[in-house]
Amino acid sequence: MNDNTSTSVDYGSMDFEAITARQQETWATGDFHQIARLNVPMAEALCDAAELHAGERVLDVACGSGTAALVAARRYCEVIGIDYVPALIERAGRRAAADGLEADFRVGDAQELPFADASFDAVVSVYGVQFAPDQERAAAEMLRVCRPGGRIALAGPIPEGWSGDFFAANARYMPPPSGLHPPLRWGTGDGLQALLGTGTVSLSSEKRTALQYYRSVDHAVELFLTCFGPAIRASEADTKNSLRDDLKAVFSRYNRATDGTAVVENTYLLTVAVRA
Ligand SMILES: C[S@@+](CC[C@H](N)C(=O)[O-])C[C@H]1O[C@@H](n2cnc3c(N)ncnc32)[C@H](O)[C@@H]1O
Repeated sequence: MNDNTSTSVDYGSMDFEAITARQQETWATGDFHQIARLNVPMAEALCDAAELHAGERVLDVACGSGTAALVAARRYCEVIGIDYVPALIERAGRRAAADGLEADFRVGDAQELPFADASFDAVVSVYGVQFAPDQERAAAEMLRVCRPGGRIALAGPIPEGWSGDFFAANARYMPPPSGLHPPLRWGTGDGLQALLGTGTVSLSSEKRTALQYYRSVDHAVELFLTCFGPAIRASEADTKNSLRDDLKAVFSRYNRATDGTAVVENTYLLTVAVRA
């Protein structure tokens, strides 16, 4: 994946609608819910950092099967989760019901949030909004629906570490549309400043590490090749049959277990911004 954050994007020539439609199909492929368990520690850390308190109105953008929304619901927040994959939204609703939690899940696009201005005390996203192709619009939408003094809190991939290497491995087989800012732009100080700086009174980020537990490195690779839409699409484009080995190398590089299982270190960026 290209992590150059300073490339200028010719917005006039980008067909964001078509790119969004293709990405939506990709995320609907496989079953992201089987991967979502890896994001729970990041969602917990994010809700702590955003200091979500009972009764606050919280929006989880690109919520998948509800990972962060359900953390907020456990804190008695009034939560809405939005994602453009209907099957994940349906799963999020079933998870809330199974846990006896109250949360509202809706199908929708992060680039066009169906909410009034200043409707939320906090807007959160875990490895979610970063994937929207029109980054300026997605950032503007989060700023718009967050009330003045409210928080925008993000957990996302950074160019270095497991995430950067993992996405780069997939992108070798399935390159992103040319000219698009990479999701990793949200994982840099300059990128965050460009996207959220003017709408916020403070913006602070720190690197954290979340551990991913698997039965083995092979199990991790198999899980992603069968459940993670972007990896499935990359494997379909893999004419040399080498994606599996590439992914194995990435997981092995960050595996700290020595007993045959895998405990993979994922260093990510946790950001909290306060709306102006
Ligand atoms: C890596 S998953 C993370 C899901 C969830 N936040 C979690 O932590 O479990 C990325 C999610 O972003 C969603 N997504 C990507 N682009 C989106 C967009 N433009 N609008 C809504 N959802 C989007 C995908 O459908 C997918 O569920």
